[in-house]
Amino acid sequence: MRKKIIAGNWKMNYCVNKAEEFVSQIKDTINTDEVDVVICPNFVALDRISDLIYGTNIKLGAQNVYFEDKGAYTGETSVNMLAAVGVSYCIVGHSERRQYFNETDEIVNKKAKKLLEKDIAPIVCVGETLEERESEKMYEVVEKQVRNSLDGIDKDLIMNKVVIAYEPIWAIGTGKTATAEQANEMCKYIREVIAKMYDEETSQKVRIQYGGSVKPSNASEILNMSDIDGALVGGASLTNDFVAIVNY
Ligand code: PGA
Repeated sequence: MRKKIIAGNWKMNYCVNKAEEFVSQIKDTINTDEVDVVICPNFVALDRISDLIYGTNIKLGAQNVYFEDKGAYTGETSVNMLAAVGVSYCIVGHSERRQYFNETDEIVNKKAKKLLEKDIAPIVCVGETLEERESEKMYEVVEKQVRNSLDGIDKDLIMNKVVIAYEPIWAIGTGKTATAEQANEMCKYIREVIAKMYDEETSQKVRIQYGGSVKPSNASEILNMSDIDGALVGGASLTNDFVAIVNY
């Protein structure tokens, strides 16, 4: 039985004080062990939020990382730096990073591997554009992203650590959600790709989230689909809607 994982991706929102205020307000209501709950604030808020959720079941996530250990990489943050403030998950390859910061599957793969060296679970995002869906290239596109982003990662880590997030780009921040069936169909397809890359057991154990306009009104339908193991929530993770989604 795969444990559900619900992660809030705050993106570039909330300064430290506001982040602290918001988490203080919701933390008791999202402190559950029925699902894994992850909060991914901005880098500068990580340390304070880490202190605030200490002793709860809530996990801390980062939104990005760099794959080198240290050195002259102005503006970047290493895996060790994340580990030092208590980060246990890190989003990699979000479509906004692929789109605005030229992140390729190769970079995503290096980041995921580096995170795993430090026992931080990568949340590896994949997903097609509207154009790719309309031209029915979505399976091909997503399969390539999955294969290249996870290339060379051990099967044990895929089963026990890595999280895959299927986020169709056309559904992110648009209010346009994939139907639960569309989301499930792709998550199922990703599972088949994992079975081809590894084996059946690995494909049954890997956790695959859906992301893209998840809100309280659609959370339960999405989260009850057979192959969807959680949600990566953007906009709705900044409000009390996140509480409702966690308690779907
Ligand atoms: P959204 O974002 O929930 O605001 O659509 C999801 C995401 O980008 O992870």
